Amino acid sequence: MDTNTQPPFDLIILGASGFTGRYVVREALKFLKAPSSPLKSIALAGRSPARLTQALQWAAHPAPPPTISILTADTSDPSSLRHLCRQTKLILNCVGPFRLHGEPVVAACAETGCDYLDICGEPEFMERVEIQFHEKAAETGSLMVSACGFDSVPAELGWMFNSRQWVAPSAPNKIEAYLSLESDRRIVGNFGTYESAVLGVANVDKLQELRRSRPKKPRPVIPGPYPPKGPMIDHQKEIGLWAVKLPSADSIVVRRTQTTLTENPTGLPGINESAEHIKIREAFWSVVKPVHFGVKIGSKTLVGVFRFIAVGMFIGLLGRSSIGRWFLLKFPSVFSLGWFRKKGPSEDEVRSASFKMWFVGRGFSDVNHVSQQSKPDLEVVTRVMGPEIGYLTTPIILLQCALILLSQRDNLPKGGVFPPGIVFGSTDLQERLQRNGITFDYISKRSISA
Ligand SMILES: NC(=O)c1ccc[n+]([C@@H]2O[C@H](COP(=O)([O-])OP(=O)(O)OC[C@H]3O[C@@H](n4cnc5c(N)ncnc54)[C@H](OP(=O)(O)O)[C@@H]3O)[C@@H](O)[C@H]2O)c1
Repeated sequence: MDTNTQPPFDLIILGASGFTGRYVVREALKFLKAPSSPLKSIALAGRSPARLTQALQWAAHPAPPPTISILTADTSDPSSLRHLCRQTKLILNCVGPFRLHGEPVVAACAETGCDYLDICGEPEFMERVEIQFHEKAAETGSLMVSACGFDSVPAELGWMFNSRQWVAPSAPNKIEAYLSLESDRRIVGNFGTYESAVLGVANVDKLQELRRSRPKKPRPVIPGPYPPKGPMIDHQKEIGLWAVKLPSADSIVVRRTQTTLTENPTGLPGINESAEHIKIREAFWSVVKPVHFGVKIGSKTLVGVFRFIAVGMFIGLLGRSSIGRWFLLKFPSVFSLGWFRKKGPSEDEVRSASFKMWFVGRGFSDVNHVSQQSKPDLEVVTRVMGPEIGYLTTPIILLQCALILLSQRDNLPKGGVFPPGIVFGSTDLQERLQRNGITFDYISKRSISA
């Protein structure tokens, strides 16, 4: 972005009329023109000015809607997207499924040098745009970061937070995150996320193909042997959860950050970084350790875990054929056992939900005495906790990433396509999330039998 001519808007929320988009607008309004906030001007963009106006009214309620520009743009019209990019420093993209709608937005940002953040949770999209647009974005100065929502910032910062509790000579080998969704009402997600997940399963072969087609990147060096797979259903007595593997984007995003870190052990230099920030960045990355990372979804009861397995099987089996996908998308409540609805959760359901993500790290008390036969002898447990994941935590994270980008641009890379951890890990993102209701807690450290 040419810094000599400032565009009229600090950021544009694209897809502001969507279920998640309007919660993002509500979060953005909290910071608009607030004292010391870098957010002085925003615009909302999408296909329908009427729906965008309604979204603004809903987001501002009970206050009257502020005067905010409403811009028309359609992802099927690249010129409308380039027009948006020329009017702003940053696009927040909430239009999904990203596999269907995301690429033209990324292309417009890469071409014009506009910065870009999104709330995507679709690994194939993220990896594809990195291959296609990284070089162009690096050249034009467009900083592009996907997965700046619940997917996958709690996992990225949670891994880093746990790994920073391992003081030398100890080091972790594996961190397993256990996600627990809690509410005294129903836990419900909107159709947009469900559709994105169903299409992800349908295109799983494309992701494998994509990975085979690109040169292998260096793997991080993790002390000790590759951890055993473990049982399909895991019972974590200490945290009171039964759990099963969650095929979310998190572990893939964490792996991408670890790979980038292997290539850049002191993190990514900022475009015009202060000497003080260089010190902060280098100190931060010197204590973050790579690990084998996985995510499981947990329930307090074994029956709850069987429900997760049933939904996984419905989506996994039916999602692979077009007729199966038709059924899945036609009857989301049936095949998700009530977890996803076409009209999304009510405001009460959103308000009463919350999450806990436990990070159980296992590793070695003295990394100097580790061989390929060694078994972990130390366990460190930490926890990230916050409000409802899709429509409260995701907007909080997206906005804080945006505010960092607007206020600390010199400390961030000039441009390129990156996962969120490597860009925001060494900034004050964790402190900002803590100030906004997402907490990071150290829970325990204990010896375990080797
Ligand atoms: N990272 C996370 O943890 C997280 C959390 C929540 C959501 N998400 C993701 O966010 C995405 C959106 O989910 P949602 O539930 O908000 O979906 P949604 O309610 O269906 O919203 C989709 C939005 O995209 C817009 N849109 C659709 N086609 C468009 C086009 N051709 N041009 C411009 N805009 C277009 C829609 O505008 P109209 O009003 O014109 O239809 C609407 O604003 C999904 O991919 C979901 O997985 C991620």
